[in-house]
Amino acid sequence: MKTRYWVWIGATLAASAAAATAWVIQPALAPVQAPGPNDFDSASIARGARVTAQGDCMVCHTAAGGSPYAGGLPLRTPFGTIYTTNITPDPATGIGNWSLAAFTRALRHGVARDGHLLYPAFPYIHYTKMSTADINDAYAYLMTRTPVVYQAPDNDLLLPLRFRPFLAGWNLLYLRPGPVPEDPSQSYAWNRGRYLVDGAGHCASCHSALGPIGGERSPAFSGGNIDGWDAPALTALIQAPKPWTREQLAIYLRHGWSTEHGAAAGPMGPVAHSLSRVPEADTDAIATYIMSLQKPPASVPKPVASDDHARVAQGATLFAGACASCHGATAPMMAAGGRPSLALSTAVNSERADNLIQIVLNGVPWSHAQQSTFMPPFAATLTDAQIASIAAYVRADIGKRPAWNSVEQRVNDIRKENQQ
Ligand code: HEC
Ligand code: HEC
Ligand code: HEC
Repeated sequence: MKTRYWVWIGATLAASAAAATAWVIQPALAPVQAPGPNDFDSASIARGARVTAQGDCMVCHTAAGGSPYAGGLPLRTPFGTIYTTNITPDPATGIGNWSLAAFTRALRHGVARDGHLLYPAFPYIHYTKMSTADINDAYAYLMTRTPVVYQAPDNDLLLPLRFRPFLAGWNLLYLRPGPVPEDPSQSYAWNRGRYLVDGAGHCASCHSALGPIGGERSPAFSGGNIDGWDAPALTALIQAPKPWTREQLAIYLRHGWSTEHGAAAGPMGPVAHSLSRVPEADTDAIATYIMSLQKPPASVPKPVASDDHARVAQGATLFAGACASCHGATAPMMAAGGRPSLALSTAVNSERADNLIQIVLNGVPWSHAQQSTFMPPFAATLTDAQIASIAAYVRADIGKRPAWNSVEQRVNDIRKENQQ
């Protein structure tokens, strides 16, 4: 993968050179006295809670076991590790002395108060589309959180990328500042949905493929990869074995679980958890917009049998012992609440085994899920070969799909990636 870095660096250098004429050093904006709770109106603070939930701000800006919004969560990118910063109103280590103008500039242009350019791991290319009113409310909400004194660790990036002015070239390619006008030919719900999906919700930052320099590829939403998980295409939801409906999608986004499609696992768990705190009209609008992006179904794949009978048979035995108590056709869990069969799961039907492997290794944790969606992790109890056999069985007998290749090696790789 080393060559990829050099392509990235070369392209960034070239783009930076091209941007040189347009590139102006961003000025520092004057620090302000940290505003107090009485400086904001309570309705604005309440609306800000909704905006920050739409934008998952807390998910990224909170480290494991850390204080909310105090930052320190490591984000691993192909170019190194970037730590999220403290966005509590502590004046020294957080954004306490940031004016509304400085905060707005960060969201719209990816520039910090002191003028340095921010890394696009902070999805400002999406937040730039938020309305001025929403940005003002998010500011009111964040400035009235408890200030926390905490400084995130230094980033650990490839050398050339530590030089932030390079980002001017990147911005020239990928940043289109400011909100997008409404489309009058579409309904209110569609426009609201597009606004939330492309703006605060930044769905494309995980669900689109990334190019060699970390920009989102078009067509948008055709599937991406994040933290070792596949984020499936959002334009093929009606091609699923049980095609998604607007209603099922709205329920899935709100509750992190739907009767026909199961649980939101991995990095989607916290997204759904955050969306559980926004009004139902917002998740309905997101569903309306996403359903309008669907491509007509391609040809329906024919059931194919696996030829590795020994492995499938071994997987069947392991499944009966480790999984069937919950996922077997007659398991009590399957009867309760109309649970979807694993045959309908995207993790089982996907081109790649990655999400099935991740779910078996990590389970579906309590913290992001309702009690009824808990699944224990099997990382400590099943070997790579056993997980590969279970995957072969699930894929062949439950999914009725052609076998995945080299699953055992993939389990091994994913375990290593997860440990980093
Ligand atoms: C995908 C993860 C992610 C999400 C979601 C996210 N941020 Fe950030 N944010 C970052 C990272 C990473 C940085 C630091 C970038 C850098 O140091 O260059 C950052 C930096 C910032 C900064 C600049 C702070 C400073 O001290 O320089 C502000 C302000 C900010 N984020 C606000 C928000 C708000 C408001 C939201 C929600 C609407 C949000 N962020 C959601 C990752 C995220
Ligand atoms: C204690 C009960 C329990 C056990 C044991 C269990 N699971 Fe799960 N599993 C769940 C729950 C609950 C969910 C999330 C809700 C849902 O998707 O129905 C889930 C989700 C899944 C999903 C994702 C389905 C989706 O939502 O797309 C897969 C795949 C899966 N399990 C496979 C397995 C395999 C393979 C095993 C055995 C190694 C296993 N599970 C063992 C309870 C269990
Ligand atoms: C932090 C990355 C991330 C963000 C942001 C994100 N997703 Fe996801 N999403 C994922 C991953 C990873 C999965 C696969 C895990 C799973 O299916 O449980 C997923 C699964 C889904 C699924 C299920 C697809 C299927 O075929 O089973 C839907 C629907 C979805 N996301 C919609 C959205 C929408 C709408 C947004 C924006 C509001 C969004 N996601 C934002 C990472 C993300």
